[in-house]
Amino acid sequence: MPASDLSADSTIGDWLADPAGSAALGRLLSGSGASPSAFDGAHQLTLNELVPLSSGAFTPDDIARLVEEVGGKVVEVASSVTPAPRAPEWKEVIISGRFAGKTVIVTGAGSGIGRATAVRIAKEGGRVVAADISEERLQQLLEEHAELDLIAAHGDISNGADVERIVAAAGGRIDGLANVAGIMDNMSPLHEVSDELWDRVLRINLTGMFKLSRAVIPFMLDAGSGSIVNVASESALRGSSSGLAYTASKHAVVGITRSSAFMYGPSGLRINCVAPGSTVTNIQASFDSALGRERILPVLALAPAPVPADRLAASITFLLSDDGVNLNGVVLPSDGGQSVI
Ligand SMILES: NC(=O)c1ccc[n+]([C@@H]2O[C@H](COP(=O)([O-])OP(=O)(O)OC[C@H]3O[C@@H](n4cnc5c(N)ncnc54)[C@H](O)[C@@H]3O)[C@@H](O)[C@H]2O)c1
Repeated sequence: MPASDLSADSTIGDWLADPAGSAALGRLLSGSGASPSAFDGAHQLTLNELVPLSSGAFTPDDIARLVEEVGGKVVEVASSVTPAPRAPEWKEVIISGRFAGKTVIVTGAGSGIGRATAVRIAKEGGRVVAADISEERLQQLLEEHAELDLIAAHGDISNGADVERIVAAAGGRIDGLANVAGIMDNMSPLHEVSDELWDRVLRINLTGMFKLSRAVIPFMLDAGSGSIVNVASESALRGSSSGLAYTASKHAVVGITRSSAFMYGPSGLRINCVAPGSTVTNIQASFDSALGRERILPVLALAPAPVPADRLAASITFLLSDDGVNLNGVVLPSDGGQSVI
């Protein structure tokens, strides 16, 4: 498509495929402070659809300027789509000693919510087994926080042998487990879900946290205490936040949380769940399905702006710590209010 045919209703993919369009998008990205990966998985979205999902990074005016820059069609910029307002300012306050003497396994600790959770627990005195499938990310974490008590446990939580190694890294004592690792899907409805996608999403989001929890719970039962926080999603609360596979996996995370809270409550264990709203991390979602885009994008446009991962760590560590003493089987939406929309 020639640059002059590009418009606010052209897809990111069309823009990137055109040299002038791609250069103009690159300038817009660097000017907005958004990361170069901002368009990963978004190639099927139009610029108009991007505005409400960008948490204020891209405004209708930006899009109009962009279209003008490439001599494209300066029509149809959706001024009716208002970007969600940025979340209010907030600064993490470390609660010194809250995890002193405790050993906590955190999965997905190499990035995003898991990383923020691992760092917060360690800053509050905990000894953290930081588990992730990415060795490189774990190395970076340890290098950046050499002063903290972090033990890297590289492995795939859906692999039995890796789960054994992650548990062994704790050295016989496990007070807490944060099951954070997970992946997104491609927003497909049921009839478009491939076997490969279904198996991958369920294996990582569900089977992985099941296998690791199964290996950890006997330690907690022996000790007569322990706290587990599972990370679900808005997609655990409704059918309109993601595709079928991710939605099913996160609903099942809630089921595991409730069954385990019921079963092990009398033995001194607490098992709770946090359902995050949109959070700025490295998680990759794509919009591969036309039906998925048509149904899900208008719902996502109503959501509060994505927040930094430390806000999720605040909710997860609250439930994980003794501050959650009276909570068992809770599903806590941590989403700036998205769950009431
Ligand atoms: N970011 C969001 O907007 C959002 C919203 C709702 C729920 N969540 C949930 O939060 C959790 C964390 O996601 P995030 O956004 O921080 O993503 P992220 O991609 O930034 O981090 C996830 C980490 O998990 C690791 N991981 C993936 N598969 C693994 C495996 N098999 N074994 C071990 N580690 C593995 C990855 O290497 C990565 O470091 C996920 O369960 C996700 O579903 C995220």
